[in-house]
Amino acid sequence: MSPAEQVAEQSALAAVAEVLSCPECDRGLASAAGTLRCAHGHSFDIARQGYVSLLTGAATKATGDTAAMLDARAAFQGAGYFEPVADAIATAATTGYDPDAPEILADIGAGTGYYLARVLDAFPAARGIGLDIAKPAGRRCARVHPRAAAVVADAWRGLPIRDRTLTAVLSVFAPRNPAAVSRILAPGGRYIVVTPTVAHLAELIEPIGMVTVDPEKDRRLAAALDGRFVRAEHRTIEYPMTLPRADIANLVAMGPSAHHADSAGERIARLPESVEVTASVTVGTYLPT
Ligand SMILES: C[S@@+](CC[C@H](N)C(=O)[O-])C[C@H]1O[C@@H](n2cnc3c(N)ncnc32)[C@H](O)[C@@H]1O
Ligand SMILES: [Zn+2]
Repeated sequence: MSPAEQVAEQSALAAVAEVLSCPECDRGLASAAGTLRCAHGHSFDIARQGYVSLLTGAATKATGDTAAMLDARAAFQGAGYFEPVADAIATAATTGYDPDAPEILADIGAGTGYYLARVLDAFPAARGIGLDIAKPAGRRCARVHPRAAAVVADAWRGLPIRDRTLTAVLSVFAPRNPAAVSRILAPGGRYIVVTPTVAHLAELIEPIGMVTVDPEKDRRLAAALDGRFVRAEHRTIEYPMTLPRADIANLVAMGPSAHHADSAGERIARLPESVEVTASVTVGTYLPT
């Protein structure tokens, strides 16, 4: 990484420091000489790769994606297959909002930061936080966009973000903590949640044992958000993708099926040169009640 890139990353973190909170004492953080520091003296180093880890205490039980999973995800996203999903998220984030507004947004479980970067592109004055429990995700988010700050934290431990500070929170195929999200959203803020439908990648369930989507997922999501959020908008995006075997291998390697990768490899080898596979997701916009 060049020094200029390093500065850009540190300043992306400095630009959002005022909305971050110390995971030890909940006080605000300020950036100073390669660290983020609270008034109580707790200090968190900004890693050479540009992210800050705000994970504290006993080792967390939750484990995030591995570097290999993130590489596969980046390769699949880089090939453009999820571009219609990214477009739909950007549309959901922008419709009815001033594109020049100084949005402060966070993508929780941001992974590669692909969707966060798309939303930041749609809001030239916005600042963003890519939050993920996995350090390899922190490394990627730190360089995905000049206005993206990368924070490593566990969404299940509450979020190291100050109350009522964010204008939008994204959750794309990621763990959701509605109580923490309703705490950090500013009045008028929105929560954009993307989940797969049962049709998502369904053609691959039988031939290569891809993990199925719970048919109750929509109902469970509604129940989890009930009482804190109301759904203002939602759209299902569904389209066919023609996937060569190499991209099917990336799909397998980037998701929960990665653990069975050896047997999946043999099955992928038995597939035709390319397979038509459905992408099907719901993009919902939720407003705090
Ligand atoms: C299926 S991936 C989705 C990544 C990204 N949103 C995307 O769609 O490309 C789920 C992400 O959630 C992260 N994750 C898992 N558990 C988490 C937790 N407890 N707190 C924060 N992030 C978590 C993983 O490391 C992974 O990057
Ligand atoms: Zn502190």
